[in-house]
Amino acid sequence: MPVNPPLNIALLGLGTVGTGVAQILTDSAALLEHRAGRHLKLRKVLTKNPAKSRDITLLPGVLASNLQEILQDPSIDAVVEVAGGTTWAFDAIVAALEAGKDVVTANKAILATRGAELFSIARKYQRCVAFEASVAGGIPIIGAIQRGLAGNTIVAIQGILNGTCNYILTRMTDDLLDYPTALRGAQDLGFAESDPTLDVNGTDAAHKLAVLAHLAMDATLDVEAISRRGIDTLAPLDIHFASELGYSIRLLAEIWSDPAGITSHVSPVLLKKNTPLAQVRGAFNAVRVIGDSVGETLFYGAGAGRKPTASAVVSDLVELAVSRNGLLAATNRLWTQNPSAPCLPPEKLRSRYYLRLHVVDRPGVMAEVSGVLASHEISIASVIQHETPTDAANSQVHMVIMTHLASAGRFLNAINALNQLTCVLAQAVHYPVGE
Ligand SMILES: NC(=O)c1ccc[n+]([C@@H]2O[C@H](COP(=O)([O-])OP(=O)(O)OC[C@H]3O[C@@H](n4cnc5c(N)ncnc54)[C@H](OP(=O)(O)O)[C@@H]3O)[C@@H](O)[C@H]2O)c1
Repeated sequence: MPVNPPLNIALLGLGTVGTGVAQILTDSAALLEHRAGRHLKLRKVLTKNPAKSRDITLLPGVLASNLQEILQDPSIDAVVEVAGGTTWAFDAIVAALEAGKDVVTANKAILATRGAELFSIARKYQRCVAFEASVAGGIPIIGAIQRGLAGNTIVAIQGILNGTCNYILTRMTDDLLDYPTALRGAQDLGFAESDPTLDVNGTDAAHKLAVLAHLAMDATLDVEAISRRGIDTLAPLDIHFASELGYSIRLLAEIWSDPAGITSHVSPVLLKKNTPLAQVRGAFNAVRVIGDSVGETLFYGAGAGRKPTASAVVSDLVELAVSRNGLLAATNRLWTQNPSAPCLPPEKLRSRYYLRLHVVDRPGVMAEVSGVLASHEISIASVIQHETPTDAANSQVHMVIMTHLASAGRFLNAINALNQLTCVLAQAVHYPVGE
């Protein structure tokens, strides 16, 4: 039987993910060759600082001294970009495509912000771009949407796409920690970066949502325009009240498609405690995808980390070795501007809402608040207001209201009006309530 030539691979980056990829390619070489029908050979590795000590020993000659050494090596078939960032990494990917290499990347920031540019260059050179590791780490959600659910019109996606946030929320809920303490715990365990801003403010989840929206709904979301709230302002008090009402809070990236268009957001959302997404704990990710034929599906697993993310990168390499034509067909179709489903403004989003008002404890306050909500056609589903310990003249209380379904536009107008009332002592706190 003829022996197939190896798939020769160059890695750009030998950090968390790159090291995992190199380890799997080495440790599972025989299994991968069996599955791919070809040897997946790590030919070159490029790092920024070659002198740094590493968790892996590379074979002699594998460490490249610069990018050109990889680009000019005609034997290299595929370049794996796991360097991160959107400038050097983008230029390196483009240079690899121009040099005739296929590309595998874990870089959701590039896909979300420069996807159209990148794929048009790949099409020009008829090269593949594969990106399974870019969303939800080890969960094979890209392949599931592209292939497994190809027979469906995707109606909605709800994702816990940031493990750092989910870990912090789990600690705040289970161990009654405040946000700064839970964040420090996440940093101590390596679940959060020293600068966690892009994770905790929802930007990372918005990038991943933009990638999923594109794949599932042909929607080109402007990442900057995705309505976005993170967990960095979430108060333990709201986790406590949500729990009392039977809900857990999770940072969700959500997108819905209906005949009018696409609505999306990233936000902390109250979910009934017995629903599957509410039960996702710690640094795990989960994605609920609803298709018109299949109905509900749920994908769960490690959303980041060395081996889980490397598992997704290696799956792209096997795919490249087995079915390059399939990947090329996908590259030729993705991030074309047409067809693009219309994206509706965030005010069109419809949800039930949780609303907490810090108010003066005196007669008539409930009537004032409900009057404002009624004038904006917001209907109240339930109210909690605990007894205050004293009847002091200036006592204050938290009033928690759950609403029926309302549009975000109408609800936010009502919030603005409530914040003007003299009986409301602090800005109203509000979160959507999920299905
Ligand atoms: N970490 C995860 O769990 C995870 C999960 C999903 C997706 N991702 C994505 O995967 C990518 C890599 O993440 P990571 O966590 O592995 O990053 P990392 O640990 O910071 O590693 C980055 C690697 O890239 C190298 N590098 C950076 N700039 C370079 C340059 N100009 N020239 C050559 N090499 C350069 C670094 O070299 P030195 O080692 O010499 O500094 C390092 O080895 C990012 O796009 C990230 O968003 C990561």
